[in-house]
Amino acid sequence: EQLVAQAQALLAHGRLPAKVFSDPALHQLEVERIFGRAWIFLAHETEIPAPGDYVMRHIVDDEFIVVRDDEGGVRVLFNSCRHRGMRVAQAGCGHAKTFRCPYHGWVYRNDGRLQGVPYENRIYGPGEIKKEEMGLLAAPRSESWNGMIFASLSSDGPTLTEFLGNMAFYLEFYTRKSEAGLQVVGEPQRWVVRANWKLGASNFIGDGYHTSTTHFSTVKVGVLPGSADFLIDGVQVDADSGGLGFRRMPPGTGSTRGYGPEVMARFEPAHRAILESGCFPSHGTVFPNLSFLAAAAIVDQGGAPVPYFTLRIWQPVAHDTIEIWSWMLIDKSAPEALKRASYTSYVLSFGSSGLLEQDDTENWTSITRSARGRMAGTQELSYVMGSTSLPLMTDWPGPGKAYSMDYTEAAERSFYQLWLRYLQEAT
Ligand code: FES
Ligand code: FE
Repeated sequence: EQLVAQAQALLAHGRLPAKVFSDPALHQLEVERIFGRAWIFLAHETEIPAPGDYVMRHIVDDEFIVVRDDEGGVRVLFNSCRHRGMRVAQAGCGHAKTFRCPYHGWVYRNDGRLQGVPYENRIYGPGEIKKEEMGLLAAPRSESWNGMIFASLSSDGPTLTEFLGNMAFYLEFYTRKSEAGLQVVGEPQRWVVRANWKLGASNFIGDGYHTSTTHFSTVKVGVLPGSADFLIDGVQVDADSGGLGFRRMPPGTGSTRGYGPEVMARFEPAHRAILESGCFPSHGTVFPNLSFLAAAAIVDQGGAPVPYFTLRIWQPVAHDTIEIWSWMLIDKSAPEALKRASYTSYVLSFGSSGLLEQDDTENWTSITRSARGRMAGTQELSYVMGSTSLPLMTDWPGPGKAYSMDYTEAAERSFYQLWLRYLQEAT
């Protein structure tokens, strides 16, 4: 709590104590007050298209079976048997009409109801076990938004739509782009990185600045097209519940970037005005730990860059460790060849072994490591960029606060303000 108070005092001046990236007690507070309350992204509906399909997902230490039941509904079930708490499903994904607990054999239907108990009538007396009350627990709340499945560990608080707030408008740049809807290609990649979760979330929300240094080598080796400082004169938006960065191209270049007239017709006037001005969404984060990126990489030397879209979460494992989960999504109706090329482009740049991914995580693991030591106890990190010099755009057609450069730390400052609000509200 002392560190929270210190962070609050410093953030008013655009600074943060380095210890926020390495303090175990602060991490516990985040787990309780942020991950215990916020809406957390778990899965995309296209990962479980048919009744019985399921994937295993987590909110910190809680494991959930995200399953499509026999009626076609999506359930988010706590993967823990009501008898002794054994995990009833073991696989990362699969297909099941029922889940049979491996310990004593209780059987649950894929909507969570307890269906069968071995030897029930011989071993339990009348009324001892009320099967109708012993179904798998469901996440306190779960909801879908345009195919994206979220859950909250808190039974009250804002609805998912209220929580997404202005970010819903910006996520629609991706969800409305295809008429058929988006689909996840392959399975999400996941890997463990020794870094604090906030470093990834904050980098994706508003650190356009690192691209020209961190990712310079990817331009040199020919994976990233053009130059690495393309975001300097982009646009950054602080949208309250999250934020994002836009790349700025000459006005009227929409068609060359997949926004032809047919696609444009699916958008609201405010979306269209942004796209027509030459601004295309690039990277962003929905508080607390869902990030997204639309980019392109060169798959064949000499060939055109192939676009891709990826969603990712920074799943906290400990104060200094995250598991990154990364999905690649594409228009369901895209030709198979494009789906494959797009997947290759994603794997080369932002998959677990991607070049840009490696660039980024090297920074975050190093920061987390140096934040552990004693010197870090006195160190204040700088988030002041643009705080006095960069005025708000007055003609931005979308919601939130927009700035006429992506090289600013406005959205990161706002991310940490929201982070503080959650930490200071008692549950
Ligand atoms: Fe599941 Fe006993 S723990 S049946
Ligand atoms: Fe990066």
